[in-house]
Amino acid sequence: MATAEERYMEWLRDAHAMEQQAETMLSSMAGRIQNYPDVRAKIEMHLDQTRSQAAQIERCIERRGGDTSTLKDIAGKVMAFGQGVGGMMMGDEIIKGAMASYAFEQLEVATYRVLIAAADKLGDTETSTTCANILREEEEMARWLLENLGNLTERYLEREETPELEAQT
Ligand SMILES: [Fe+2]
Repeated sequence: MATAEERYMEWLRDAHAMEQQAETMLSSMAGRIQNYPDVRAKIEMHLDQTRSQAAQIERCIERRGGDTSTLKDIAGKVMAFGQGVGGMMMGDEIIKGAMASYAFEQLEVATYRVLIAAADKLGDTETSTTCANILREEEEMARWLLENLGNLTERYLEREETPELEAQT
C-alpha cells in the first residue's frame, strides 16, 4: 500500500513519462507529414507545448521534493502505444496517426483531471494550477483533431484516388 503522497508523486512521474512519449510520437509524425501542411503545423505547435508541459511537470516534482534523476528511465514504462506503425504499413498513415493522436490526447486529458483532483486533495495548489493550464492545452488539441478528422479523411481519399498524388503522409 502506498501513501497518498507516494501515489501522487508516482502519478506526476507517470505524467512526465506520458509527455515524453507524446514528444516522441509528435516529433516523428511532424517529421513525416508532407502533404497536409495544416496538420503538420498543428502537430508542431503541440510538440512545443508538449516539451514545455514535460518541463513544467518536472518542476512540480522537484518542488514537492521528488527525485527527477530517474525520470528518463521510467519513460519506457508508459503504456505501449501504436504510433501509427500499422498505418505506415497500410498506406493510411496520416489517418491512423490522427486517430492515435486523438486517443492519446484523451489519455492526457484524463491524466490531468486525476492529477488536479490529487493535487487539490493534498493541498498542492501550484501543481493544481499548472495541471489545469496543461489540461486546457490538451483539450484544445483533442478538439482540433476531432473537428478536423472528417475534412482530413476527405482530402486523404481524394488524394488516394488521384494517381499522381501521394496520400499516405
Ligand atoms: Fe501533453
